[in-house]
Amino acid sequence: MFAFMLTIILVILSHLQIVFSAVDSIRPFQSFSDGGTLVSQGGGFELGFFTPGNSNSRYVGIWYANIPVKTVVWVANRCNPINGSSGLLTINSTGNLVLMGHNKSVVWLMSSSKQAKKPIVQLLDSGNLVLRDEEDGNSETNYLWQSFDDPSDTLLPNMKLGWDFRTGLNRRLSAWKNWEDPCPGDFTCGFEFDPQLHTYPDMHMVKGTTSFTRAGPWNGLYLSGFPAIEPNPVYSNDFVYTEDEVYYTYNLKNNSVISIMVMNQTTSSHQRLTWIDAEETWRTYASLPSDECDKYDVCGANANCMIYESPMCQCLKGFKPKSQEKWNSMDWSEGCVRSSPLNCLEKDKDGFIKFSGLKVPDTKRSWVNKSMNLKECRAKCLSDCSCMAYTNSDIRGQGSGCVIWFGDLIDIRQFSDAGQVLFIRMSRSELGKTNNKIRAVIPVAVIGGVSGMLLLGYFICRRGSKERNQVEDLEVPLFNLSTITTATQNFSIDNKLGEGGFGPVYRGRLEDGQEIAVKRLSISSGQGEKELKNEVKLIAKLQHRNLVKLFGCCIQAEEKLLVYEYMSNKSLDYFIFDSKQGKLLGWSKRFQIICGIARGLQYLHQDSRLRVIHRDFKASNVLLDNELNPKISDFGLARTFGGDQSEEKTNRVIGTYGYMAPEYAFHGLFSTKSDVFSFGTLVLEIISGKKSRGFHHENHDHTLIGHAWTLHKEGSSFGLLDKHLRESHHNLKQVLRCIHIGLLCVQQFPVDRPSMSSVVVMLVSESELPQPEQPGYFTEMVSAKRENSSTKKKSSSMRDMSITILEARFTTKATVHDAKACHVLAWPWVKPDLAS
Ligand SMILES: *[C@@H]1O[C@H](CO)[C@@H](O)[C@H](O)[C@H]1NC(C)=O
Ligand SMILES: *[C@@H]1O[C@H](CO)[C@@H](O)[C@H](O)[C@H]1NC(C)=O
Ligand SMILES: *[C@@H]1O[C@H](CO)[C@@H](O)[C@H](O)[C@H]1NC(C)=O
Ligand SMILES: *[C@@H]1O[C@H](CO)[C@@H](O)[C@H](O)[C@H]1NC(C)=O
Ligand SMILES: *[C@@H]1O[C@H](CO)[C@@H](O)[C@H](O)[C@H]1NC(C)=O
Ligand SMILES: *[C@@H]1O[C@H](CO)[C@@H](O)[C@H](O)[C@H]1NC(C)=O
Repeated sequence: MFAFMLTIILVILSHLQIVFSAVDSIRPFQSFSDGGTLVSQGGGFELGFFTPGNSNSRYVGIWYANIPVKTVVWVANRCNPINGSSGLLTINSTGNLVLMGHNKSVVWLMSSSKQAKKPIVQLLDSGNLVLRDEEDGNSETNYLWQSFDDPSDTLLPNMKLGWDFRTGLNRRLSAWKNWEDPCPGDFTCGFEFDPQLHTYPDMHMVKGTTSFTRAGPWNGLYLSGFPAIEPNPVYSNDFVYTEDEVYYTYNLKNNSVISIMVMNQTTSSHQRLTWIDAEETWRTYASLPSDECDKYDVCGANANCMIYESPMCQCLKGFKPKSQEKWNSMDWSEGCVRSSPLNCLEKDKDGFIKFSGLKVPDTKRSWVNKSMNLKECRAKCLSDCSCMAYTNSDIRGQGSGCVIWFGDLIDIRQFSDAGQVLFIRMSRSELGKTNNKIRAVIPVAVIGGVSGMLLLGYFICRRGSKERNQVEDLEVPLFNLSTITTATQNFSIDNKLGEGGFGPVYRGRLEDGQEIAVKRLSISSGQGEKELKNEVKLIAKLQHRNLVKLFGCCIQAEEKLLVYEYMSNKSLDYFIFDSKQGKLLGWSKRFQIICGIARGLQYLHQDSRLRVIHRDFKASNVLLDNELNPKISDFGLARTFGGDQSEEKTNRVIGTYGYMAPEYAFHGLFSTKSDVFSFGTLVLEIISGKKSRGFHHENHDHTLIGHAWTLHKEGSSFGLLDKHLRESHHNLKQVLRCIHIGLLCVQQFPVDRPSMSSVVVMLVSESELPQPEQPGYFTEMVSAKRENSSTKKKSSSMRDMSITILEARFTTKATVHDAKACHVLAWPWVKPDLAS
């Protein structure tokens, strides 16, 4: 009994010592129970018991002692929680730190290979918990065990991420399962390395057993796929690769800054966070993956992921899709193969093409030599028929070292403002092609033309020299008028498909059976034939899988005809606004359509050489092919046939009620952002199956946009979804995300609306979206109610046709930012009386 009491007293005394004088270490026979903490000497870190979330589970962990948000950076018993407060941490007689739970069961232990004579466990100011032997003279650096060798989800400054070949230790980060369970999830990060096959260490983030994102190999300055980390004012990176070790580490430039690297299972991302004292919060400095192109091998072999291109996956120059069909449907998994085979065995038959701005390929099948130069590297690659590419292993200064790749090149991406060069092996025939090829055609200036007609001047850049050239002669077939009249049976009314913005459209069949759609332009302009042809050639250059293809034109006498590919499934309005047809378009198809038209518009705005603003984007201008893939039509026409216009202001408003952005309808101000508005409107239509124009709700006067916005505000966006879609299986998260994106696009002020390339990224990623501001055209206002019968008649007879308002009506001084003015506009449209 006495012995028992004594033990209790001893235990209490040892606790008192720890609890009351903030100590940083534990020695043998001292135990440390739930409630006590160790604090590092400088006060930066604290070790103790904690509970994540709302469970009963207790864990031993280390956290920052000097910030108000408890941030646990290391956990001992990650998968073995202690139930309740029975935990006890102690050094036993063989010098091991042991964590015991209920009834003295061991839940975690630190095991060192060597037994210490005089063991001490200490929490250092670096956040490292170490076991050392006080008898050992070098014990300040000679640790028998350290928590830095057993990382959790966080890489602290000076911690090593990587291998120690002497001990076989491989330090990897592993995310918590979720915010209340520190047990490792399946999301981990470390260097892939194999002394035989794979000697150029490559950092991968892995989900389960497959790569999720690759940060890439170290190139002397940064990890090839993560250029965002360098250079910066917060920390300096370091990478060590010797016979003994390979690891990445970083150092703070200013020790009063707190910055960490964390793996997060919930967001599937690897984040660099910095503590912002003034805001008492962690801020993300950089994260990986940062976009779709960071997803491992997203484009398949021998392809380049270009986030601003559409589609984002493109075969490398000299390669073509292995399956064109799959590639066209954006299934990139099979990747690309060579357009012409290599001739390795014939001397000097192969060469290399230099690519720039890349993340280098996966190094799983590579070889590296740090002392070779680039010339030796090239020779080494040429001498080996399986070598496909080479570059410097270290890009600092003039570059040094050599790395070569064998077989398919996997997981390449393009950076716009960083990246490395890569020399890719090509057959001589492929090299010949690039020598003579025109590199790029860049429109440089708009020069005046005949009667308001625009002509574009081009610089054609050839290899090594820049020279001025005439408008490039593109092969656009000129059809004979008789061919077209035969094909359309003399523009028979039976062949009429509809009425577009610039005239009627007819279906036709050429002699060889090819089906065509012929647009008969009803614009009588004074434009010369030559200029018109030139314009058609420019439009013909706009080629994208989500744009209707222009086959050619016919300009003879008074007839001006454009000949397009024929779309068997008519236009989108025919489906979404029709209760029968609407059933044919399930949610996933609608989502594909939204993504497709977003890419098509992005191409027009950004990626094409002409930078086209559509100005009449609407459901009836989105045609569907036989697989219901969307293709935008009537692009480029406003620009060409719209008449007087400068880049920003027009006094001929071309567009369609219900889709026109307020600033365009009122002030004739158009920009890519007015197209974004129309796009947003169309997205809301596709989701709701309701027409924006003439929308009516029994309970309120809101427009479709106003209705969507109100539901969004109330958190009941789902109510917007077309009732045909409600019962069927759908992706709720995706639906809500699309509505959210739609609302961002129809915001009142153009500057608030995202660009089409942001929209494309938002559609396919899961990043957090900003909250939309109030949209343009919120409510149908009094002016619409007061409309007189003659306007009503007129507007209903115009139905959904495009309109052209010929004079500059709105000479008022009201600016785009005059919110009130913008709210007055309603449809059926009446001329707003801004003066009253
Ligand atoms: C943990 O302890 C609580 C109360 O002490 C008990 O109700 C619960 O069943 C225990 N859970 C486990 C898993 O032992
Ligand atoms: C100390 O703990 C370790 C780990 O649990 C164990 O292997 C060892 O036997 C213990 N030593 C003693 C004397 O209990
Ligand atoms: C506690 O451990 C002792 C001996 O190891 C065992 O006899 C006893 O049943 C255990 N008690 C509980 C509640 O697990
Ligand atoms: C992961 O990120 C989410 C969202 O930012 C956050 O709520 C969660 O706490 C993070 N998880 C961990 C384990 O830190
Ligand atoms: C380090 O950071 C602190 C806090 O941000 C700042 O006050 C201080 O000036 C910095 N020191 C240096 C040398 O930059
Ligand atoms: C690396 O290259 C250097 C210089 O060419 C050469 O001396 C050395 O043997 C090479 N090392 C290996 C492992 O091939």
